[in-house]
Amino acid sequence: MNKRFYVTTPIYYVNDAPHIGHTYSTVAADILARYHRLLGDETFFLIGTDENAKKNEETALNLNEETHAYVTRMSQTWRETWDKLGISYDRFIRTTEKDHLEAVAKFFEAVHNKGDIYEGEYHGLYCVGCEDFKNERDLTEEGLCPLHNRKPEEVTEKNYFFRLSKYKEPLLKYYEENPGFIQPEFRRQEIIKLVTDYCEDFSISRQNQTWGIPFPLDSTQRIYVWFDALINYLTGVGYGSDDGKFGKFWPANVQIVGKDIMKFHCIYWPAMLLSAGLTLPKQIFAHGFFTVNGEKIGKSLGNAVDPLKLKEDYPIDAIRYYLFSELNFGSDGDFSEDRLKEMYNAKLANGLGNLCGRIAKLAERCEINLDPFKFGLDSVPQTYHDSLTQLKFQDALEQIWQKIGSLDKKISDGKIWELPDSELKPILTGLISELQVIITELQPFLPETADKLIEQFGGGKVKALPPLFPRK
Ligand code: MSP
Repeated sequence: MNKRFYVTTPIYYVNDAPHIGHTYSTVAADILARYHRLLGDETFFLIGTDENAKKNEETALNLNEETHAYVTRMSQTWRETWDKLGISYDRFIRTTEKDHLEAVAKFFEAVHNKGDIYEGEYHGLYCVGCEDFKNERDLTEEGLCPLHNRKPEEVTEKNYFFRLSKYKEPLLKYYEENPGFIQPEFRRQEIIKLVTDYCEDFSISRQNQTWGIPFPLDSTQRIYVWFDALINYLTGVGYGSDDGKFGKFWPANVQIVGKDIMKFHCIYWPAMLLSAGLTLPKQIFAHGFFTVNGEKIGKSLGNAVDPLKLKEDYPIDAIRYYLFSELNFGSDGDFSEDRLKEMYNAKLANGLGNLCGRIAKLAERCEINLDPFKFGLDSVPQTYHDSLTQLKFQDALEQIWQKIGSLDKKISDGKIWELPDSELKPILTGLISELQVIITELQPFLPETADKLIEQFGGGKVKALPPLFPRK
């Protein structure tokens, strides 16, 4: 029986447009989903939009648009972006959908029955940018939120709280017993420290708000957006609507998040699940942040790189290659179009593209006729599987490009094009079988390119075609 694999990305706020940072998380999950489908695993890949946030409402108001119409329009933009980028998701969830509201109600009831929700008064600071409560220790010397450069609002209101403090010891025990739960390791250490030092109850409702899911116990309150948003990962696989599906896919295998939202995913989320009596996801992987030409990506800075704009100049596979070969998944890095161009020419045009072009041209000359090839992952070395299961995407790409380099060298050093066809043929057949393994390995990373190459080198007569990646 095949295994099953469930992978998620953060659901993005719709008050902003998709940029290269969001693309990074989404493509990472796409690589994993494609890899597991190729392994034959029953795979579910969830993406979506986070719509009940106050900041979505604020933006709609500024635009003079009705909030629901605004989030619907923007959600569509996000979805279209991922479609145009070829993201192989199985469901695009919107947190304003009916099954999500039902899932939230069910989850809320479980947590409430457990005695983990109580009424209190919240007095403190709230940053709408983060949709998060802030402590003095979280702010800059000037009292600003370091992520949004904005002064948090001071609020005093009746709120309902979730008993996070009750889960301090169970969480620490879980982190200890499941070292793979939070990755990379240095992030796990950060979270352990945070939970050890602070693990305070948090408010899960907002008073007098007009947007957001109504709070079940009190009509003057709405559910705090993060409490509802996290539950999307359950709704997406049928919690509260399809028990069979939920039983099959939950717990998630990998939940990809950026380092900015680790607290919610590594502390609040597992505590909420423990409270509701549900199994915890197998892994939360927090990746680093991209700057653009050395600068933080910011709405106000206007430097956000639009992936669709980029796609006008570069094939999506070139963008995917650049994002995942440039840095180790987990570290911070910088995005620059100059560097993308440099890598495109060096690794795709001159590297992979040139190799395939050379082999195809010689194969056409010798009229090579190939047996059908399967391109199944059972033909690839264990190191490739290890890199993918550990989310070491950069390592996997490096291994593939080493093979590309060594095949290229074999052709150049042997000057094989000078050989007569009868001698060239068996050499070429050998080279093509090595190339077929490379193509197999490329599938999760560069799916469009891999499809073209499978067509070209998958069986029958090999034809020379125009360059895969024309030089820029
Ligand atoms: N809506 C919440 C997530 C709720 S999940 C239950 C949210 N949305 S967001 O639109 O602000 O997206 C944040 C995520 O976008 C980050 O965690 C990360 O995945 C991605 N990134 C945003 N900026 C990024 C960079 N500059 N670099 C890399 N990833 C970035 O938070």
